[in-house]
Amino acid sequence: MILVTGGAGFIGANFVLDWLAQGTAGSAEAVVNLDKLTYAGNLETLSSLQGNASHVFVQGDIGDSALVSRLLAEHKPRAVVNFAAESHVDRSIHGPEDFVQTNVLGTFRLLESVRGYWNTLPADEKAAFRFLHVSTDEVYGSLSATDPAFTEDNKYEPNSPYSASKAASDHLVRAWHHTYGLPVVTTNCSNNYGPYHFPEKLIPLMIVNALAGKNLPVYGDGMQVRDWLYVKDHCSAIRRVLADGKLGETYNVGGWNEKPNIEIVNTVCALLDELRPKADGKSYREQISYVTDRPGHDRRYAIDARKLERELGWKPAETFDSGIRKTVEWYLANAQWVSNVQSGAYREWVEKQYDAESTEPAGTAKAPA
Ligand code: NAD
Ligand code: TYD
Repeated sequence: MILVTGGAGFIGANFVLDWLAQGTAGSAEAVVNLDKLTYAGNLETLSSLQGNASHVFVQGDIGDSALVSRLLAEHKPRAVVNFAAESHVDRSIHGPEDFVQTNVLGTFRLLESVRGYWNTLPADEKAAFRFLHVSTDEVYGSLSATDPAFTEDNKYEPNSPYSASKAASDHLVRAWHHTYGLPVVTTNCSNNYGPYHFPEKLIPLMIVNALAGKNLPVYGDGMQVRDWLYVKDHCSAIRRVLADGKLGETYNVGGWNEKPNIEIVNTVCALLDELRPKADGKSYREQISYVTDRPGHDRRYAIDARKLERELGWKPAETFDSGIRKTVEWYLANAQWVSNVQSGAYREWVEKQYDAESTEPAGTAKAPA
């Protein structure tokens, strides 16, 4: 079996659902899923696994060494896949401490618990063991419009408290391999989108706000570029790297889908205009509202994923057009999931982050910077 951390969050839950769906009934390799259930963790996402003996959910912190050591000794996983993290850049600007706590200290403690367990394994199991650390392209910093896409050789230049804490965790993982021989692999992926994405991030926030008749808050001039990957393609990349990734190596994961934010928002609006037209015949585009930019906002991310393609034969299955259509359709079909995650804590975050800007009529919005 494998131990997955953060498996009740967006990518971790998609990974667990896909992993368990890989095997035919009853034959999938079991998963122990350790998640603290912060605001971003949601057991409802995993509700289809109720009664599935191949999935053991444990609520807890990766930084709880006693708990993690006990789980490792009890379940004897052959691998750990570490998704657990604080993941939202805007939250890291308002409150960086949680990011240092989980992403840096939590990863350190997890590595130490895993090292203790790994040292007890017989030689063959020790050699076969893997610690896969899931990270982000944001550790490389920001690109200009003409820079080539990030390769694994780019230097780390993190700019936000989030990316700095992820960069620190990547360095710890690297050092635990170099110093202690722990068999690690790291993946650095671009922006994900797809089902079960918490509506604090760009794409699900735009869908949810559009349908609620609220403004669609675009930061600054909306020309910041992100490289988008459908979440299930990220999951398939992680499975490939877990199976055949070279020890101590890092693999960039991306979909060659660089797009400015405003284009993403326009695409979401066009899909909603088609799939859920407004009664008054107007376009959702009219709800777009340019708001104050994020401090220190990285201008452009782009991933060169050729190493993963060349060495492990991975390719994304979705184009951006097919993935974004599936995503919008999923949100339209899963209104109950969306409504359930919009708890009091979610509303408090939206009020704090967007002030009155996201609820005022679009005509009152700031001009693009
Ligand atoms: P998420 O915020 O949706 O989920 C994170 C999960 O981790 C939640 O279920 C949360 O409860 C859990 N968690 C937080 N702190 C924990 C702790 N101390 N112990 C145990 N569990 C804890 O994040 P996500 O978007 O699913 O991202 C997963 C991983 O992928 C993160 O490491 C993130 O840095 C990385 N990543 C994300 C993206 C993206 O676009 N979302 C892109 C590249 C890499
Ligand atoms: P986000 O989904 O938070 O991911 P990240 O910051 O990790 O890339 O944001 C994606 C892009 O969208 C980023 O450039 C910030 C921008 N953005 C907005 O313009 N408005 C919003 O309300 C949000 C949440 C993000």
